[in-house]
Amino acid sequence: MQLQDSQLFRQQAYINGQWTAGRQAPKFTVYNPYDQSPLAELPDLGTEDTRAAIEAAAEALPRWRSKSAAGRAKLLKKWFQLIHRHVDDLALLLTTEQGKPLLEARGEVLYGASFVEWFAEEARRAYGDVIPGPGRGLRILTLKQPIGVVGAITPWNFPNAMITRKIAPALAAGCTVVVKPAEATPLSALALAELAERAGFPPGVINILTSNQPAAVGAELCRHPLVRKLSFTGSTRVGKILMRQCADTVKKLSLELGGNAPFIVFDDADLEAAVAGAIQSKYRNAGQTCICVNRIYVQNGIYERFVEAFQMAVRQLEMGNGLDEDVVIGPLINRAAVDKVDRLLRDAVVRGAEVVLGVEVATGIFYPPTVLLESRPDMALHREEIFGPVAAVYRFETEAEVLELANATDYGLACYFYGRDYARIWRVAEALEYGMVGINTTQISTAVAPFGGVKESGIGREGSKYGLEEFMEIKYMCLGGVR
Ligand code: SIN
Repeated sequence: MQLQDSQLFRQQAYINGQWTAGRQAPKFTVYNPYDQSPLAELPDLGTEDTRAAIEAAAEALPRWRSKSAAGRAKLLKKWFQLIHRHVDDLALLLTTEQGKPLLEARGEVLYGASFVEWFAEEARRAYGDVIPGPGRGLRILTLKQPIGVVGAITPWNFPNAMITRKIAPALAAGCTVVVKPAEATPLSALALAELAERAGFPPGVINILTSNQPAAVGAELCRHPLVRKLSFTGSTRVGKILMRQCADTVKKLSLELGGNAPFIVFDDADLEAAVAGAIQSKYRNAGQTCICVNRIYVQNGIYERFVEAFQMAVRQLEMGNGLDEDVVIGPLINRAAVDKVDRLLRDAVVRGAEVVLGVEVATGIFYPPTVLLESRPDMALHREEIFGPVAAVYRFETEAEVLELANATDYGLACYFYGRDYARIWRVAEALEYGMVGINTTQISTAVAPFGGVKESGIGREGSKYGLEEFMEIKYMCLGGVR
């Protein structure tokens, strides 16, 4: 990997403003998913080093939270500019450790930077209220204060943007942070920390733990009383464990968990737009995002035309090394991910699905873009998050039928539908039990809108004006004797 700025390739953890190998920590290896070649050797920090990072964050907190909002915003803006300046290196690092195509990696870096810019601006808008008092001589005021030390656990599918989506609002609010990036993809987080250091963030404000022991580090972040908030993006299974572990210290939680996004195409949809939307969402990051289309429901009247155009578009998707120019589908993150997609596909085939494009059994760590027709709700991939480039298409007849199917899941993150009838647009958008609804679009990810789910897809919102509030407490002051 040839970076223009080799200092962005860091092989140490970052605690209290120091690059460190931890206290006698052994090393773990980070691999390139494309060819499994080793990329880096990083300190495998455990509970003790996690505690040291938490204590550093707690020590840095009083000075950081008492800094003016404008002062915090200035540092965030500087960080934003540095991320932009180094976008090519950050994208290269991201593709090398995660596998997604370079263009997509670049998009993720810019998406990640947009959270830093947005929250630099929002830092100055943490307004309180003045509330008319309930009796004579009483006045009520509210103010928003930073919650304290924040623990953040981030996933491998967005090694850059999920760091900034969590820590930019935390820093803007006046919190300090301890971040545990995914063990498969910690290099982007370390590069961001290097740039944050150059931007001038004081020691202890941002701490990055490198570790191949997610359970031990996660448990410490959950149990330590100095951590007042935990923000996690990952599976619903792990989210539930973290939620239980946070109960003893009654921590505030943000959880962005799994999804099972329906994608509905009504008869009156713009066919071209619907196909483009399905391709964009289904195959983004080789199908490895929480908001990827998971179930494609197509109404009878448009079914044949949609299926034909969709298959034609899927045939154009080139798979390979994310560093090669024309590639749009990279490898999956590891062999276990391939096995999971394979299991879901085999189950669907046994239950009657027809593989019209792709494979029935994958080889290596690549999974070719695959299309399944005749999919039915009794198949495991109707209930489970596929997290791979397999598109399952279902046929439906009525609006009521598809709404029932779309909502028949424990998840409630993103959903999408295409149609032109405005009354139905309102009806369907209101009836879908999801945190985010894409109508005639699948491009719903942006720093200005609240990202998050309902049901078992999570708690809280990231991005937007609501994202800042997740890192603040409301204090209410009652002023008496006002005569
Ligand atoms: C995710 O899959 O967790 C995030 C996707 C996004 O922000 O677009």
